[in-house]
Amino acid sequence: MLAHIARRIGHFHGHQISSAILRRMRASLKTINPISLQDFSQPNPSWSPEMRKFYDHYNAQCDTDTETYENKTGPWRKLPSYNRSIKHATGGIYISKLIQAKARLFTRSVNEQGATFEYVAFFNKEEKICICLFQPGHLLEGAPGHVHGGAIATMIDTVTGTLAGYLSGPSVTANLNINYRSPVPLGSVVIIHCALDRIEGRKTFITCKVTSTDESKVYTEATVLFVSIKLGSLFG
Ligand SMILES: CC(C)(COP(=O)(O)OP(=O)(O)OC[C@H]1O[C@@H](n2cnc3c(N)ncnc32)[C@H](O)[C@@H]1OP(=O)(O)O)[C@@H](O)C(=O)NCCC(=O)NCCS
Repeated sequence: MLAHIARRIGHFHGHQISSAILRRMRASLKTINPISLQDFSQPNPSWSPEMRKFYDHYNAQCDTDTETYENKTGPWRKLPSYNRSIKHATGGIYISKLIQAKARLFTRSVNEQGATFEYVAFFNKEEKICICLFQPGHLLEGAPGHVHGGAIATMIDTVTGTLAGYLSGPSVTANLNINYRSPVPLGSVVIIHCALDRIEGRKTFITCKVTSTDESKVYTEATVLFVSIKLGSLFG
């Protein structure tokens, strides 16, 4: 098992990791026990009935059963959400123990359920779109009773980045343009819709709209540019 992981760990989403880091990872495999991954995008008691209703709606149209992992037919895939994105990679749970071990994905860094970023994202490969159900908690206040603009930007960056990653591999945000049309009430449920605009070489352009669940109200609109990178560049 460890030898298998050691062979595969040289690649992160298909990108080569430097040999020095690789040596440290392989050496450390002997002392690290596998850790279980908690999926933070599963329903929890803080979810409002509306959040749960829309989750059930999209979950019913997924290609895999979330609990049994059995194949179904449906256009959507529910995306798991760990507290470090590196854990998505082959051997990622081991890598995450080695590089800045205490680091946490910003949106998953607060343990209190419902207090900050409650969200779940679904990906539709055929249509090259991602939607995210987002229930902002009370610790995300900006204007009284409403969500901080930076928290909305965070979620737009997160979901558009997820779509860019699935379509173009490892990428970083190069440009994020946001128009805030209407304040988002804390504790409400909104839908973040992201779609591929175009890919030009290393550049992936994504459009994004944040709306009410019935889509009658547009809260925010954005366009985001991601640039593909060699993952090794992040490791020096
Ligand atoms: C984005 C980044 C990787 C680009 O650097 P690079 O790899 O040297 O690539 P280049 O500067 O050659 O840019 C690649 C292409 O993207 C375009 N581009 C890069 N930054 C851009 C920006 N902010 N706005 C518009 N276009 C941009 C370039 O014009 C170039 O286009 P071209 O291929 O048509 O000529 C680099 O600037 C970077 O790392 N930025 C920080 C990213 C970050 O920290 N994001 C937040 C966390 S994810």
